Amino acid sequence: MIRLKLPDYKYQTEKVKERFSRLKRRSITMEVRNLTKKFQGIDGPVTALKNINLKVHKREFVCVIGPSGCGKSTLIRTLAGLEEATSGEILLDDKVVTKPGPERGMVYQEYTLFPWLTVKKNIMFGLLESGATRSNAESEARQWTSLVGLEKFENHYPSQLSGGMKQRVAIARALANQPKILLMDEPFGALDAQTRAKMQVYLMEIWKNIDITILFITHDLNEAVYLADRVVVLKANPGEIQEIIEVPVPQPRNPSQFITPEFLATKHHIETLIHPKGELKEVDNLNLVRMVNVKSDIGDVF
Ligand SMILES: Nc1ncnc2c1ncn2[C@@H]1O[C@H](COP(=O)(O)OP(=O)(O)OP(=O)(O)O)[C@@H](O)[C@H]1O
Ligand SMILES: [Mg+2]
Repeated sequence: MIRLKLPDYKYQTEKVKERFSRLKRRSITMEVRNLTKKFQGIDGPVTALKNINLKVHKREFVCVIGPSGCGKSTLIRTLAGLEEATSGEILLDDKVVTKPGPERGMVYQEYTLFPWLTVKKNIMFGLLESGATRSNAESEARQWTSLVGLEKFENHYPSQLSGGMKQRVAIARALANQPKILLMDEPFGALDAQTRAKMQVYLMEIWKNIDITILFITHDLNEAVYLADRVVVLKANPGEIQEIIEVPVPQPRNPSQFITPEFLATKHHIETLIHPKGELKEVDNLNLVRMVNVKSDIGDVF
């Protein structure tokens, strides 16, 4: 067996180091200070998040990854103002925020377009709510539909679109309100692998071309390393930051970097944080029930 010797995931070329040092000098769009969130569960209080501290710089792309139930959705919902923090503060451009606001755009895993409105009208909705005239809202919506490559579908209803197209409209709808930060909770989680890969490339293109900062939740290691400047790894019970990783893969990204040593080293390191050695061995102890007769005429399968 050939074993690949991976570099240290902390190793950065001079160009990557230089980029991170410029990134850290940018202003801070969102700051999370000592954020703790507790829920009242059936069996007593649950600490979903404990002492989260994070600074997201202007035009940075930050991914948050961690095992199921570690508080990723709670974090993004609290940042969006949809959940109240138990303690701690969230600052947007140095100002404390406690309620939802148009400066924070949200995209969810579930399809959340209004089914009774066309693509164009879905995008116009927020613009009209915030006081734009109908003709301005319409021309803005046209620009956004074309940015996400859906100009031919502007009069279609969500039920006439594929999952990937629906999420492109959801991204356009969120961006049309010109938020300072886009908060995305596993936006591609419901898509098949190929559509998901295309959507990642789309999102990278959008991020490169418009002035937006992104905080993106994912379960997918490839997605996190491909998209992020930095990856925040959470651990569960309570949800705490385990490590914040500066991804050493050079920007701008492209899918051919998936097999570069620095990509694989970063992915491997995150994997060891999320699934410490031995954790998956529990699967061996599963009490499997034989549902069918395993005798077969082909002999041993394994
Ligand atoms: N409204 C609520 N009431 C009580 N407990 C909650 C509530 N929302 C979340 N929790 C608990 O907080 C913890 C974190 O949940 P959360 O949904 O944020 O996790 P997650 O990391 O997004 O999980 P997944 O990867 O499965 O989406 C879990 O233990 C969950 O049961
Ligand atoms: Mg979640």
